[in-house]
Amino acid sequence: MRLHLLLLLALCGAGPTAAALSFSLRGTWSVRNGNGSLQLPGAVPGCVHSALFQRGLIQDSYYRFNDLNYRWVSLDNWTYSKEFKIPFEISKWQKVNLVLEGVDTVSKVLFNKVTIGETDNMFNRYSFDITNVVRDVNSIELRFRSAVLYAAQQSRAHTRYRVPPDCPPLVQKGECHVNFVRKVMVSQTVGLGPSFPTQGIWKDVRIEAYKYLSPELLHIFPIYSAREWNLEIESTFDVVSSKPVAGQVIIAIPKLQTQQTYNIELQPGKRIVELFLNVSKNITVETWWPHGHGNQTGYNMTVLFELDGGLNIEKSAKVSNFTISKVRGPLKGSKGPQATFKEPLTVLDVGTHHHGILEVTSEDHCLLLQSVVDANMNTLRVWGGGVYEQDEFYELCDELGIMVWQDFMFACALYPTDQGFLDSVRAEVAYQIKRLKSHPSIIIWSGNNENEAALMMNWYHINFTDRPAYIKDYVTLYVKNIRELVLAGDKSRPFITSSPTNGAETVAEGWVSQNPNSNYFGDVHFYDYISDCWNWKVFPKARFASEYGYQSWPSFSTLEKVSSTEDWSFNSKFSLHRQHHADGNKQMLHQAGLHFKLPQSTDPLRTFKDTIYLTQVMQAQCVKTETEFYLRSRSEIVDQQGHTMGALYWQLNDIWQAPSWASLEYGGKWKMLHYFAQNFFAPLLPVGFENENIFYIYGVSDLHSDYTMTLTVRVHTWSSLEPVCSRVTEHFVMKAGEAVCLYEEPVSELLRRCGNCTRESCVVSFYLSADHELLSPTNYHFLSSLKEAMGLCKAQITVSTGHGGGQGAVTSAVAPFVWLERFSDNGFLMTEKTRHHILLPLEPTTQE
Ligand SMILES: *[C@@H]1O[C@H](CO)[C@@H](O)[C@H](O)[C@H]1NC(C)=O
Ligand SMILES: *[C@@H]1O[C@H](CO)[C@@H](O)[C@H](O)[C@H]1NC(C)=O
Ligand SMILES: *[C@@H]1O[C@H](CO)[C@@H](O)[C@H](O)[C@H]1NC(C)=O
Ligand SMILES: *[C@@H]1O[C@H](CO)[C@@H](O)[C@H](O)[C@H]1NC(C)=O
Ligand SMILES: *[C@@H]1O[C@H](CO)[C@@H](O)[C@H](O)[C@H]1NC(C)=O
Ligand SMILES: *[C@@H]1O[C@H](CO)[C@@H](O)[C@H](O)[C@H]1NC(C)=O
Ligand SMILES: *[C@@H]1O[C@H](CO)[C@@H](O)[C@H](O)[C@H]1NC(C)=O
Ligand SMILES: *[C@@H]1O[C@H](CO)[C@@H](O)[C@H](O)[C@H]1NC(C)=O
Ligand SMILES: *[C@@H]1O[C@H](CO)[C@@H](O)[C@H](O)[C@H]1NC(C)=O
Repeated sequence: MRLHLLLLLALCGAGPTAAALSFSLRGTWSVRNGNGSLQLPGAVPGCVHSALFQRGLIQDSYYRFNDLNYRWVSLDNWTYSKEFKIPFEISKWQKVNLVLEGVDTVSKVLFNKVTIGETDNMFNRYSFDITNVVRDVNSIELRFRSAVLYAAQQSRAHTRYRVPPDCPPLVQKGECHVNFVRKVMVSQTVGLGPSFPTQGIWKDVRIEAYKYLSPELLHIFPIYSAREWNLEIESTFDVVSSKPVAGQVIIAIPKLQTQQTYNIELQPGKRIVELFLNVSKNITVETWWPHGHGNQTGYNMTVLFELDGGLNIEKSAKVSNFTISKVRGPLKGSKGPQATFKEPLTVLDVGTHHHGILEVTSEDHCLLLQSVVDANMNTLRVWGGGVYEQDEFYELCDELGIMVWQDFMFACALYPTDQGFLDSVRAEVAYQIKRLKSHPSIIIWSGNNENEAALMMNWYHINFTDRPAYIKDYVTLYVKNIRELVLAGDKSRPFITSSPTNGAETVAEGWVSQNPNSNYFGDVHFYDYISDCWNWKVFPKARFASEYGYQSWPSFSTLEKVSSTEDWSFNSKFSLHRQHHADGNKQMLHQAGLHFKLPQSTDPLRTFKDTIYLTQVMQAQCVKTETEFYLRSRSEIVDQQGHTMGALYWQLNDIWQAPSWASLEYGGKWKMLHYFAQNFFAPLLPVGFENENIFYIYGVSDLHSDYTMTLTVRVHTWSSLEPVCSRVTEHFVMKAGEAVCLYEEPVSELLRRCGNCTRESCVVSFYLSADHELLSPTNYHFLSSLKEAMGLCKAQITVSTGHGGGQGAVTSAVAPFVWLERFSDNGFLMTEKTRHHILLPLEPTTQE
């Protein structure tokens, strides 16, 4: 559901009966450092780094080695202050609050020189009562402390035992003890980006004044009963009048011809009003579908409070018919249960992982999420090392049909559980659940990223005898606090304690499994940069592959903006500096070298650009092979393993210009992997692979209906544009939501059948079609490494604009991994002289 708070009336429109007035303190504040040597204007929302940059006091923080040069910024203590006049008569209001939607992170808040509160959690929202200190002209000051120094101090104060990890590996160039402060991890860092533990006010700040009562939040939940669609409407009030406030509530969903009136009476104090709206049985409510599976239908609902004294409050929201639960049933042939999200219809969860960036615009969110759906993804995990995203992000996910796997912000670390820390976390979790639970896009809550695995696989070398104490802390934080808050605050979707985890099996083992990454249960994270990624036998036949991936470098055009000429080689100091994953650059070359000739131009810049391109080819091909393995494992159980119902590769977007697992570069440019994802996440896909020298093609369908089609298998030599042979199967019915074997042939027979083919001289391509209409992307299978390919020659490729504005490419020879800037598809294998790529709509097979 999408929520619009329409109640905070704009000043000019506020009549005498307005319940609340709000005055935003967004805009320019004054910023100064600890010893007062620097004083400058700074934007709110914003951070110290951007204020310094705007003033020209620092350069682009992402330029070359500036992340190290600007470390002093995060070690200083900054103060944000502002003086302002409130443009309405403040004394006439019964209660006045200062609301801080997001403070980063550790600060003391002074209002008119009186300390009104403190903040220590950037994921929490703070509201301080300033009724007694507010005047017409005011001063506000947020005295920040370096979060880095604060974390170190908290860690030192925790004397009973260590809470590892103390410091990240040197290669990550991050700060220590990040688990002791509730602040975005990725900026401090966990190896994904530069370390900028900044300070500032990163969301809105405002003064809220109200009479009688303050309407705070409104939530609407669908309740599913046998045949009806009912809604629970929950609104929270702070009633400040000394007498009860009574009146009527009128709830309406015009499109569903539904309206109901309720009488209410609100007693003084914090009040929650719960109302139920029953939609008539004879009205059809359309379903909210994930992207690629149907419409994202939402209905406008209005909630009008008509209260004593002429107080009118109107809120509107979008409500959707959507339900999700985890399937827990047993799985035939396996000791573990299923790991599927059950919506109205079971779909494969395909997609990737997102980590938040702080200073983003709506355009950034749009660009990012549009790229998600354009690549045929339906799921995005908001990862525990980033931030809970802004409202707008989830609203867009609701609109676009992107299912969100929402982590709580805990990742790759153990955490303290002293009372102060727990109180802060409890406030954060309760607030985030309230803020986010109305979004149909959120399908699951997850307690943390990899902390069950960290504990049970002993990443931090904890002495065996100490382990029970750490397990106790783990259970305290994620089970006794976070899980309890989720169960109390949101009954509409499942909660898992960690990822990877074993679900019910983990619970049975006391919330920590011996091997949380088991193939038989729950989800699996899998990374292996050394084994040959073209060999699918390397990959786990998991129930749900929730994390996997390979690194690549962003394109030269992206890097060029933050580097200088001497940086432009793969072994430069810069290339080493930007790589925050130990041996990452070596691993990429190793993996690429297994199947490709490494670039060896005499021109160093050419070599650098070619190496970048090759890392992208390697990444795209590796993630393709791995993803296709998971997709084709959808319907089968082999040695008790399989029935893979999810494939979420790591990761979607970059937060700076550096090598990483991302498929979108900083700025949004698609890497080759993102183009590949568009194909391998297509709703209908043929997947080719070999087992013991037999070539197989599986058909993978994530469609809702059965379709009749044929499979065409072609073999090309590298040196010719004409296929040397082509075979079309009989018509068959591709069953909805299944992965089945469509084709098998010993490789030796295939080679013999196709003239003079050898593994080195030929390549196989295949597609699904009906009546000469292409139904799937054209996929391919290499019979040998490309470095051994024979007859592959340098292709001349030209691009032309055809009739109707579409573009076409023309090649002189078979060409793999064709890359054309600003082309709608990229990284493709060209086996035909011209490339045209048209997918036509499907017609369901009529059942007879
Ligand atoms: C920042 O504040 C901390 C704690 O109050 C103090 O120890 C430190 O010296 C201060 N640093 C600067 C640069 O002012
Ligand atoms: C004040 O702080 C700045 C930034 O940390 C530092 O460069 C400068 O030396 C300090 N000045 C004095 C007088 O301590
Ligand atoms: C509305 O639905 C709720 C929940 O199913 C039920 O308890 C209640 O009796 C229903 N009310 C009416 C008027 O049908
Ligand atoms: C739905 O059915 C009820 C009787 O059960 C009837 O009174 C009502 O008019 C119907 N509503 C619509 C919109 O058809
Ligand atoms: C809500 O969607 C589900 C799944 O598509 C459907 O079965 C149900 O009938 C819908 N509810 C109503 C009230 O139409
Ligand atoms: C989606 O919406 C369109 C336009 O409202 C409608 O024609 C179509 O039937 C809907 N599709 C589904 C699957 O509900
Ligand atoms: C729903 O409400 C929004 C915002 O209030 C409005 O823009 C939109 O047109 C409404 N949609 C319908 C179908 O009434
Ligand atoms: C494990 O025990 C040894 C010896 O008692 C101690 O030095 C070390 O710090 C302990 N390690 C951890 C992680 O607590
Ligand atoms: C196989 O190769 C031979 C010798 O190069 C050639 O004469 C023959 O035409 C080829 N056959 C096919 C089917 O391509």
